[in-house]
Order: sequence, then C-alpha cells, then structure tokens
Amino acid sequence: MTLDLPTLLQDIAADVRPLLGEGEVASYIPALSRMPRDRFGIAVATIDGRVYGAGDSGHRFSIQSLSKMYALALALQREGDALWQRVGREPSGTPFNSLVQLERERGVPRNPFVNAGALVVTDVLCRRYLQPERAVLEFVHRLLGEADVAIDAEVARSERGHSDRNAAIAHFMRSFGNLHGDVGAVLDAYCAQCAIAMSCRELARAGLFLAADGVQPPGTRVVDALAARRINALMLTCGAYDAAGDLACRIGLPVKTGVGGGIVAVVPGRLCVCAWAPGLDANGNSIAAAAAIERFATAIGASIF
Ligand code: DON
Repeated sequence: MTLDLPTLLQDIAADVRPLLGEGEVASYIPALSRMPRDRFGIAVATIDGRVYGAGDSGHRFSIQSLSKMYALALALQREGDALWQRVGREPSGTPFNSLVQLERERGVPRNPFVNAGALVVTDVLCRRYLQPERAVLEFVHRLLGEADVAIDAEVARSERGHSDRNAAIAHFMRSFGNLHGDVGAVLDAYCAQCAIAMSCRELARAGLFLAADGVQPPGTRVVDALAARRINALMLTCGAYDAAGDLACRIGLPVKTGVGGGIVAVVPGRLCVCAWAPGLDANGNSIAAAAAIERFATAIGASIF
C-alpha cells in the first residue's frame, strides 16, 4: 500500500482540532503569552525530497528548545566526545528548568536538552564563535539551503528580560567550574537561539539530517554519522524531559519538544515530521502536537520498537 501522506495529514489536523483549546501557552516568556491556542500545523519532509503539510504548516513560530538539537549538533562537531565531560547523557526525570540535580551532581547537567545542559552547550559555542546564536542560525540556513529564517528579536528580548531561572542555573554551574564564559553573554546567546522562528515545513526539512545519518539530503554531510546517532538517542531518552518515557511509549521515535508548541520527530531512514500547537501540558510539551505525531507514527508504522 502506498501512503497518501497529504490525506493522512489533513485527517490528523481534523482529528486533533478538539484538543486545541487545552493546555496553557508559555506565559513565563511574555512575548509567547499572546499566542492564540487555536493554531495547529503539521508537516512531513521525506529524505527523497518531498514535503507535505496541513493546517498552519507554513506559519513561523518560536522554536525555543527545538534549537537545542542544532546547538548540540554544532557543539558535537566542534568539540567531539570531550563535550560529555561537561554534560551527561541520562534522562533527568525533572522539569526542563530544574536546578535540583545540579547541586548533588556538582554542576554537571544530566543531558544537553534540559536548560542546564543547553546552557553548557551554549557556553561551548561562545568559546568557538564570536556570535554563537548566528552560528546556530547559519547552521539552520545550511540545512535549509536558504537564509530566510531569522531570530525574532522581540521574543529574544522578552525571554532575556525574564531569565532569572536560567541565570540561576548558569551561575550555579559556574560556581562548580562547569560554565567558563560570562553568564550574561551565555544567556544572550541562548535566548537568541531559542527565539529563532520557523514553520513546521522548515523544521521538518531541517531535521532530515537526523533521519539520514548526518547527511542533509540531497547530499551535504553536516555532522558525522556517530553524532547523528547520539543526537537521536538523546532525543528519544531526554527530548521531552520528564515526559520522555510517556512519549517513547506513545510515539516510539526520537522527539524534541519546545515551549513554543513545536514537536519534531525523526523516523530514521525515512522522514522527519513536525507538528505545532501552542497549548502545553504541565511538562511544557504541546498537547495537540504530541497527539498528532502519535497518530502519524501509528498510521505509518514508524515506531522504532
Ligand atoms: O529556556 C527556556 O526556558 C526556553 N527558552 C526553552 C524551554 C523549552 O522550550 C522547553 N521545552 N519544552
């Protein structure tokens, strides 16, 4: 049976519509609190170059923690396995912005996707690049083969002005010697990277290198195969924070979530899918986007298990 992806995506968009009023938008970043909860988009990009979408699949939204995939890819390329001396590779079982493990674990974050780990990754990029957020953005441009995607300066400013929690995490890690640069500079770069705005279509296309062993179709190697495998493994085990186990059971794929409401999932060897809906559950993961990707993965038999 050949899959009719356009019809499947339309059906999924209709199916999840009743969920769109549920959850809360990420109001701790004031610029995101204005997002209407009735938006929904889904897009699929296949490694042979096709892109399909439904709903608001072309609408750009704040990628937030989805940026951590790109930052990690860049840091791994530059730093190699030395990165793992400063960031762990284990699920945290805690919220994305938690501090509790840091004291017991001497300032070494559990993984690169919790905020603490992403701040260490940004610190690494601050050492390597004069403008680390530009490096992340240019990496995205390279993945897309175009330079249209940009940082939403208002969202970046809004988060930076309300970043006490991330500042506390960064200072705490610095006190253990695991953050080397200036905390303010790290926060500037991190908030700017999180404020990149992309659509489901762009995110699905940009994620294809993870489905293709580090080669961005049609043939540009952007990370080595081992790095791609590790990013996928970390997405599966840590990409949805304290809901990683639940999403692994429901979806069975490497996923990354963001408080902008986006979720990216990778089907190795085949495709990348991104869904977006601003209403979040208590873990900060989009309710309707998770339901949509669950339906998609089930319909095409994509679970890796
Ligand atoms: O640092 C923060 O809190 C945000 N810039 C990103 C958090 C996020 O997206 C968590 N994902 N669900």
